[in-house]
Amino acid sequence: MIIRRERADDRPELLAVVQAAFADPGEAKLVRGLFASREYLPGLSLVAESVRGEILGYVITTRAWIGGQESLGLGPLAVQPEYQRQGVGLALMEASIAEANAMGESTLVLLGSTDYFPRFGFVPADSLGIVPPDPSWGSHFMALALASHQPGSHGVFKYAAPFTSR
Ligand SMILES: CC(C)(COP(=O)(O)OP(=O)(O)OC[C@H]1O[C@@H](n2cnc3c(N)ncnc32)[C@H](O)[C@@H]1OP(=O)(O)O)[C@@H](O)C(=O)NCCC(=O)NCCS
Repeated sequence: MIIRRERADDRPELLAVVQAAFADPGEAKLVRGLFASREYLPGLSLVAESVRGEILGYVITTRAWIGGQESLGLGPLAVQPEYQRQGVGLALMEASIAEANAMGESTLVLLGSTDYFPRFGFVPADSLGIVPPDPSWGSHFMALALASHQPGSHGVFKYAAPFTSR
């Protein structure tokens, strides 16, 4: 398996992976919206590809903000159901974190399972002073301080526009 940047001709196949991984069809719609958005970052739209060239998983991270400062929002993350629990999600997460660090980014934020994401170093976002726009997100709202993290960067988190217009 390799992790590489998404190419434009991957999109039908990777959208099918997102569709298969989530019961909610809104997640594939969200990814299509993110492709078309100003917050799309080509270096952080990553596919996991098998040696046979099949797309096993996909993750996208887009521009977001904490207060007025730039940060990153990760998600959706999706692994083709028959390939789940074989390390594909782990490889996509590690590649996203490495690339975000290489880009000199400060903070990676997501909404997700408290059983899965803490293994990558994510902590409750409020412990870093990051306020969710929706208080019901609770402990599922998590953040990872990257190498260039500024301890003073706190405030209300804002995802890329397609997250709020769906
Ligand atoms: C969640 C998901 C991305 C994980 O990827 P994966 O390749 O299956 O997981 P990995 O092989 O990297 O890691 C396996 C571990 O994750 C755990 N795990 C897998 N899916 C999980 C989930 N939905 N919630 C919590 N833990 C999960 C497994 O129990 C396993 O834990 P263990 O190592 O302690 O046994 C994948 O299962 C998926 O696409 N699920 C459906 C879509 C989804 O829920 N995406 C996350 C949205 S935030």
